[in-house]
Amino acid sequence: MANIERLYDFFEPEHYDLFIDVSRADKLIKGKTVVNGEAKREAIALHQHDLKVSSVKVNDRAVDFTVDDAADQIRFNVEKVGPQTIEVEYQAPLTDNMNGIYPSYYQVDGQDKQVVSTQFETYFSRQAFPGIDEPEAKATFSLALKFDEQPGEVAIANMPEERVEDGVHYFEKTVKMSTYLVAFAFGDFQSIETKTKSGIKVGVYATKAHPAKDLDFALDIAKRSIEFYEDFYQTPYPLAQSLQVALPDFSAGAMENWGMVTYREAYLLVDPDNTELSMKQVVATVIAHELAHQWFGDLVTMKWWDELWLNESFANMMEFVAIDAIEPDWHIWESFNANDVQAAFRRDALPGVQPVHVAVHHPEEIDALFDPAIVYAKGAHLLVMLRSLIGDDALRKGLKAYFDKKAYGNATGDDLWAALGAASGQDIGAIMKTWLDQPGYPVLSVAIEDGRVKVRQTPFVLGDKQADDKRLWQVPLAASAPGLPKLLTEKSADLGDWAEIKAASDGPFRLNVGNAGHYIVSYDDEILAEQVKALTTLSAIDQAQFLQNALLLAQDNQVGYADILPVLPLLANSESALVQDFVYQAVSAVKVFAEPDSKTEAYLQVFTRGLSTERFEALGLAKKASDSVSDELARPVVVGAALFGKNPALLEEAHKAFEAAGSAQKLAADGRTEVLKNELVNFNQQETFAGLLADYQETSNASLKRDLSAALAATPNPLQIKELIAAFKDPAVIKPQDLRNWFAGVLANPVGQDAAWAWFQENWDWLVDRLGGDMSFSSYITVIARIFKSREKLDEFNAFFDDKKDQPGIAREIVVDAQMIENRVELVEAQEAAVVKALDGLVK
Ligand code: BES
Ligand code: ZN
Repeated sequence: MANIERLYDFFEPEHYDLFIDVSRADKLIKGKTVVNGEAKREAIALHQHDLKVSSVKVNDRAVDFTVDDAADQIRFNVEKVGPQTIEVEYQAPLTDNMNGIYPSYYQVDGQDKQVVSTQFETYFSRQAFPGIDEPEAKATFSLALKFDEQPGEVAIANMPEERVEDGVHYFEKTVKMSTYLVAFAFGDFQSIETKTKSGIKVGVYATKAHPAKDLDFALDIAKRSIEFYEDFYQTPYPLAQSLQVALPDFSAGAMENWGMVTYREAYLLVDPDNTELSMKQVVATVIAHELAHQWFGDLVTMKWWDELWLNESFANMMEFVAIDAIEPDWHIWESFNANDVQAAFRRDALPGVQPVHVAVHHPEEIDALFDPAIVYAKGAHLLVMLRSLIGDDALRKGLKAYFDKKAYGNATGDDLWAALGAASGQDIGAIMKTWLDQPGYPVLSVAIEDGRVKVRQTPFVLGDKQADDKRLWQVPLAASAPGLPKLLTEKSADLGDWAEIKAASDGPFRLNVGNAGHYIVSYDDEILAEQVKALTTLSAIDQAQFLQNALLLAQDNQVGYADILPVLPLLANSESALVQDFVYQAVSAVKVFAEPDSKTEAYLQVFTRGLSTERFEALGLAKKASDSVSDELARPVVVGAALFGKNPALLEEAHKAFEAAGSAQKLAADGRTEVLKNELVNFNQQETFAGLLADYQETSNASLKRDLSAALAATPNPLQIKELIAAFKDPAVIKPQDLRNWFAGVLANPVGQDAAWAWFQENWDWLVDRLGGDMSFSSYITVIARIFKSREKLDEFNAFFDDKKDQPGIAREIVVDAQMIENRVELVEAQEAAVVKALDGLVK
């Protein structure tokens, strides 16, 4: 594939004067960019996308130029190499695709309103102004912003506002930064602010569609996160402000623009009086993630997009480090293990999956980089592994050196390994490269042979195994017994005498204690029996890891789900939310064997009811004053299980709660998803459905919206499904940013699956047109692959995507996802009979 031309090789920008004039009424942007910099040759080019360029001047002289839309460039010549002042005048459309400069739509008191904001990562600043739109091309920016301003409206940007003159808002000159981090917004915002210990102004902005109190939680977390990072990184936050801005329309989850971070409303605003703890945790980690980037990503930036993991893997680890430090009672690492680590393990075993560090040739491949299970979750897990190897002191020391050396510049993974290597005295690069540059991970087989413990690593592959698979990793063993090697660097090793190891082991013998290592372990029967015997005495993380290993091995038929099911009752009464999570992950995994309305499904329901009853009775549906953090987090899991199990006490209590509340808005957030689902699944009336769909449209509370959409999509009524699908393309009902969730919800509903799949195929071109430029567009395909499980559906999937495999943005996704469905089909064929038999025995 052709390489992307790097325009930074020909022209190095130093400073931009941006004048941007936005008219919402005319949906038009007018701009003038003056950029100073150094030409490295006479023929140079700037990036642009969809800009109508009217003139280009070089050092005040108009020059001829050509616009190459296919290459996203404006090309022209300068007289001689060296310093230049280039001036470009242009116009551009203000489009609704949530990239570049775009409007967000919302209502206040029934009145339509718009705020305008920017989204420039990965390569969309070129839709707003011409420039060198590459992460390495760092420059300073002075923004002058004009818009069709209404009384009371405000404008914000990366830097504080300097002055307003003749309706033009002038912002202070930025520090040296990459184009993808430039940002501004304007509109009728409300805001609150505070100051960090070090005097940085922290602000939270949202439209006036929200109660003022919904901004408070974010302000507190943002302030304390910045304070934490200033201390942890030993590097001051370099700007005067850090604004957090919630936007009604937003394609990603959040974006780390320097000094002006943007968020989906769902990921910033929290009703302090009525929000589930799990949702508060999500908001807090999202804020901490974006603020981690203010250093890692913004101050020091990856040199090119192939090192995207440097940004994202790191921020994904730091969000947990930070929140664990500022809210230790939350035990936030449990959520990392339950969600991120599991997602990484499941995806990283599929043939064709990308490594964390991946080459980028074609611009559209940049979009395909954002495989969240890999670049975020696996990458973070690898850094957690590294942190456990070197410890926090070396990590902090190394990071400080890295920031000192690279501030306002760019870096690669090697730069980070060098800094951490020097701080820790270990050859970090050699270890980490085996993990970052290769896809996948190993399964360690541990067996007793002639009285000795032998360990052997093999790539863990869900799908066709290659006979000549030579992948080897440097695996930190983290054994439960002292004196064993720290690292396994070869294919296999002898760990020592079993009797001695067993006697010295802290609890039953285990590897990967703490689960920081990105690998799974398969123990032979004798060691496994020891673990099962001690299972109820193990720590929550060990119990969860036990199930994690078993669930992954079961996907490869190395363990039978039929053998996992009988273990679940041993753990089902655990007070740990993490353990509860894994117990019901196991139940969910078994759902693939149960056709809707089949005897097997009925048995699985009875089994699940049995598992969940005691905890459900202890926890109840509603939040209690006496709740521990774990109770609050476990409740949605346990209540969800009781709902699937059709626990009659729950069904009735939930129905009563719904009737007592009188409206969705008045329901308590704890248990709300289940109450609403219960209403639509077990007490469905057209009137209720219509009422809730209207509530969905009306409410500006994103968390309520999410619960409503999850419940509505679960309706068993085909006519209601039809109504929902009819709204998929109606932004007045379903915002494009929320469509994927809706689509996934209806597709997961057996009654809705065929209709949703048909809709998807019929509307593919529309989807590509509307959302195809989005970094997470390929996840529309992932959503399908998570659900399909029959050979017939696999054939339909292949038939539809076969001619789309040459599209770089989705090529890999199609291959990996087809494999995912294939695996599921084969799994059902291989294990169905045994699972049915096991369930039969368990419920009798
Ligand atoms: N930088 C990303 C967002 C992004 C990536 C926008 C690529 C456009 C293209 C941001 O830091 C991020 O990671 N956002 C996550 C949420 C996060 C808390 C995991 C997202 O948007 O999913
Ligand atoms: Zn990020």
